[in-house]
Amino acid sequence: MTGEKAITVRDLVARKGGEKIVMVSAYDAMFARIADDAGVDAILVGDSLANIVAGQDSTLRVTLDQIIYHGAAARRGCARALLVVDMPFMTYQVSSEDAMRNAGRIMQETGAQAVKLEGGSPARADAVAKVVEMGVPVMGHLGFTPQSVHALGGARVQGKGDAAGQALIDDAKRLEDAGAFSVVLELVPASLAARVTEAIRVPTIGIGAGASCDGQVLVMPDLLGMNGDFAPRFLKRYAELGTAAGDAVRQFVAETRDGSFPDAKHSY
Ligand code: KIV
Repeated sequence: MTGEKAITVRDLVARKGGEKIVMVSAYDAMFARIADDAGVDAILVGDSLANIVAGQDSTLRVTLDQIIYHGAAARRGCARALLVVDMPFMTYQVSSEDAMRNAGRIMQETGAQAVKLEGGSPARADAVAKVVEMGVPVMGHLGFTPQSVHALGGARVQGKGDAAGQALIDDAKRLEDAGAFSVVLELVPASLAARVTEAIRVPTIGIGAGASCDGQVLVMPDLLGMNGDFAPRFLKRYAELGTAAGDAVRQFVAETRDGSFPDAKHSY
């Protein structure tokens, strides 16, 4: 994809209702390069790196310095796709001033083009509005919001029932009014995601939210089949690279032990 025009926030907004937006979560230059070359529109340095990279049990464990390290690494692998970096837990919840300061650090130290943060309450919308006012594009995130996993009682589908569904639509409109350029919908019934998508003018990007969203996002190691036996219903595993990697390392072990590696071709 090198040489093609870099994708901007405006390009993504213009895709509302048109060609589907494709985003992956990736955390370093190597995976970002593969995704960029494969033609994704956006790369999210998600705080899911807590689970995928650091082996933690929740995204609450990611710090600002850690996401900045990974964001800067992914930036170096990303030539065309829009780079979005997650704002970690405790970098925007306490005050809108925190949100502005920390969004500024992420933009300055990673080279990202946008940040993402979770929730749609009035306080959260205020933080979004102030970060947008600084000139930093913000992607929202509604439905199952992993930084609230303990309050939500686990990774479960959100927005079930009339009242919860309406509340989610209200949150999405509030984020749109605050200036968010898109909204991730995670673990939301497909019918509700369709209503949210209809209700706002900015694109929705779904994960476990059905086919009506304006785009889809998956975590790259999940879709590559590298994340153990993680196989929730929403995930399609497009490859089984974890198995392939294990087989390759097992072969290296065997050949080293039986002396067939290195052979003449791999020696000086
Ligand atoms: O952290 C992440 O990777 C995310 C996506 C799953 C949307 O928030």
